[in-house]
Parts: sequence; C-alpha cells; structure tokens
Amino acid sequence: MDYDEMVSKLKANNQEHIIKAYERANEETKETLMNQIKRIDLKQVADLFKTTKEEVNFSNDVIDPIAYVDKEKISEEEYKKYLSLGEEAIKAGKYSVVTMAGGQGTRLGHTGPKGTYDIGLDSHKSIFEILIDSIKEDCKKYNVTIPWYIMTSRENNDDTIKFFENHNYFGYDKSYIKFFQQGKLPMCDENGKILINEKGIIKEASDGHGGIFQSMKKNGITDDMKARGIEWAFIGPVDNVLVKMVDPILLGIMIDNKVLAGGKSTVKANASEKVGVFCKRNGKPGVVEYTEISKEMAERVNEKGELVFAESHLNCNMFNVKAIEEVANKNLPYHIAHKKASYIDENGNLVVPEKPNAYKFESFIFDAFDMLDDMAILRVKREEEFAPVKNAEGTDSPETARKLYKDFYNMK
Ligand code: UD1
Repeated sequence: MDYDEMVSKLKANNQEHIIKAYERANEETKETLMNQIKRIDLKQVADLFKTTKEEVNFSNDVIDPIAYVDKEKISEEEYKKYLSLGEEAIKAGKYSVVTMAGGQGTRLGHTGPKGTYDIGLDSHKSIFEILIDSIKEDCKKYNVTIPWYIMTSRENNDDTIKFFENHNYFGYDKSYIKFFQQGKLPMCDENGKILINEKGIIKEASDGHGGIFQSMKKNGITDDMKARGIEWAFIGPVDNVLVKMVDPILLGIMIDNKVLAGGKSTVKANASEKVGVFCKRNGKPGVVEYTEISKEMAERVNEKGELVFAESHLNCNMFNVKAIEEVANKNLPYHIAHKKASYIDENGNLVVPEKPNAYKFESFIFDAFDMLDDMAILRVKREEEFAPVKNAEGTDSPETARKLYKDFYNMK
C-alpha cells in the first residue's frame, strides 16, 4: 500500500482524520499505521458501527427457560454413574482446560493481565496461581497431567508469558501449558470515527471471546489436543477464583446424554445481577446477556415468585473437540460494548474520558451454543464455584472474591 492508496481507502470510508495522525507520526509509527490500514477491513468497521444505532430486538425469537440438572438433586445412583463416566475420561487423558484470559480487566483498574492480579490473600497468590493450584490438585487426584491452554490477547500476551516464565510455570510441566492469541478489531467513537491510541496508531481491542474457536483452530490448539488424544475441553474465565475447571459430573452428564457441549449455571442472585442467563432460543441452547436482556424479561417471575430466567451463565462451559472444530468454521455475530477509551484527538492531544465515549465490538462464546443441537446444563452452588473478580470495589470485587475463596477453603 502506498500513501495515495492509503488516503483513498481512508477517504472512501470516512476516516480522513487518520491521515492527520499519519502526518504527525514518526517514520516507524507511520509504517505500523499504514500496515494497520492495509490490514483492517474498514467497511466491516462501518457496518459494525451501523449496528450501534439498531436496537437489539428479540421479539422475533421465541425465548424459553432451559432444562437443567441440579447437582444437589441428582440421585445417588445417577451421581455415581456420571462421576464414573467423567472420571474415566479424565484419567484416560482425554480432558483439557482452556482459560479465556484475553480481557483487559478495565473495570478492576489493574494494568497487567487479569490473571496476574493479587486478590489480597495472605499468600498473595495471583489469580493464575490460584487457578493452577486447583488444576494441580486434580492432576494428583486423577494421576494425569492436564493440558492447560491459555487464550491471551495482543495487549497482554507477552506480559502473560513473561509472568509464567518468571514464576517458573508455578512448578507445572511447561510442555502442558500453551498460550494462543485471540483476534482484535478497531474501536470507534460515537460518530463512527476510528480512535487513535497513545502510540499514534489505530486503537484496536480484543474482538471478544467468541473468536476462541477460530483462534484455537488457527493457532493449532485443536490439532495439539487431538495429537494428545484430548476429546474434551473445559473453557472458562480467568476472573473467577472458585472456577471448577475439572468437573467429572458435568462431563459424565455430557457423555451419558451424548451431547457435545455443556455449561454450568447457578441461580441468579437477583433480577439485576450482571450475569447472562441460559435459555432456549427458537429451540436451541443460548444465553441472553445482561447487557441485552429487557427489564421485563429479567424480572419475569413464575407463580412461586421465582425468576423465570434464573440459570446464570457462569462462563464455565465444556465442549467436545469436534464441536470446537465445527464452530470454528462458522462466523459468530458481534455485540456492542459502550466503553471509556482514551485516545489522541485530531490536534494530537490525549483525551481521557470520564464517561463511555467509544464502541468496542465483540463476539461471545455463547453465541456458538445455538450452532449445537443440545447442551447439558448443570446447576451448581454459587458458594462452591462462583467468586468473580470484576470490579475494583463493591460487588464482584477482590474483597468479595477473597471472602468467598476463604470461606470455601475454610481459611481465616
Ligand atoms: C461474563 C459473561 C456473562 C456471565 C459472567 C459471569 C461475557 C460476554 N459475558 O460477563 O454471560 O454471566 O461473565 O461472571 O463473557 N475475555 C477474553 N477476551 C475478550 C473478552 C473477555 O478472554 O475479548 C475473558 C476475560 O478475560 C474473562 C471472561 O472472558 O475471563 C469474561 O469477560 P468479561 O467481558 O469481563 O465478562 P462479563 O461482562 O463479566
């Protein structure tokens, strides 16, 4: 791409302000910026921006509550059956865990990768160490080494790998830990103009964890799984210090029911809790995200006064490798996030907004669910598996997560 081609591409897509950023930049930045402009599909960004003006409308969808198995109510006989099916697969080395660690932890106010955050336990263990502790325990229990795949983003990949190296992979066999990166998309302002970041180049952000399936395929993760004889992968978040990554019961239910995907839920604490809810959409499994659910739907109750859509999506899901490969061949839809994003304005000044000023486009892992015929949902106890670390203070903060963690492990 030469200068003229760059200018005409930007003009054709209403992004002329980027020419000014280019003129201001030094030679090295100019090159990076031009490469971005060459690579980025500006028409896709314009189309995505158009969707920010459209209302999310589920009115054509038939949304029903989803069937689930309550872990507490499984009969002893069935529990034994699921446990033995699940444990057999784990012991045979057919199970792996994947952590989505590409998020930026903006709400937490932490600058490094979220997994490097210290929630304030006496041990000062980072979230990554807390997670690996639980995997190690399961490895011991089942006498296997469980492969751990960690999805990072361009922003935090190097720091994440460095963190593991500096901590000597927390004593885990290094050949069983693999990192792979998720994709990214430009952020734009409320007029659809692409933002320029502090380095003078296009501000790109992770394109959401829905890209995980394609990233796993593209980065050879599914091939690595198959080469190791892995058939199942738990895919969960980095921001839940009680995440139960190795769950023979959910796995056993999936094997018994011959379904290729499963997910864990817990009863939604209240109508406005910031969690997605599992549902059946047009007969297929799905999640209605908290940013998109209507007030009426969130507050709907049955004759007993219980929330109708109460199965919180814990972001803890399990897939057969075949399902991952199948979904990787398809494109998921994008969702819009209205965020605070600092940027360099047309005069070259840094702007640090106090309220949301920008749009970020993300696809979500759960949009893949309706590509699968059925899904097993296991309702688990909140205090056993859900201690989210999302905000710096208040709900779902290090303080609440620390308390839940200590209560679960019976620490002081
Ligand atoms: C998420 C779920 C929500 C669920 C809740 C439970 C989404 C979109 N929604 O909400 O349905 O009820 O958790 O706590 O996930 N991540 C990436 N790459 C990205 C974006 C996120 O790896 O591009 C990772 C984060 O590091 C984190 C997880 O995904 O581990 C969740 O991300 P976040 O966007 O913070 O989700 P929530 O809005 O809290």
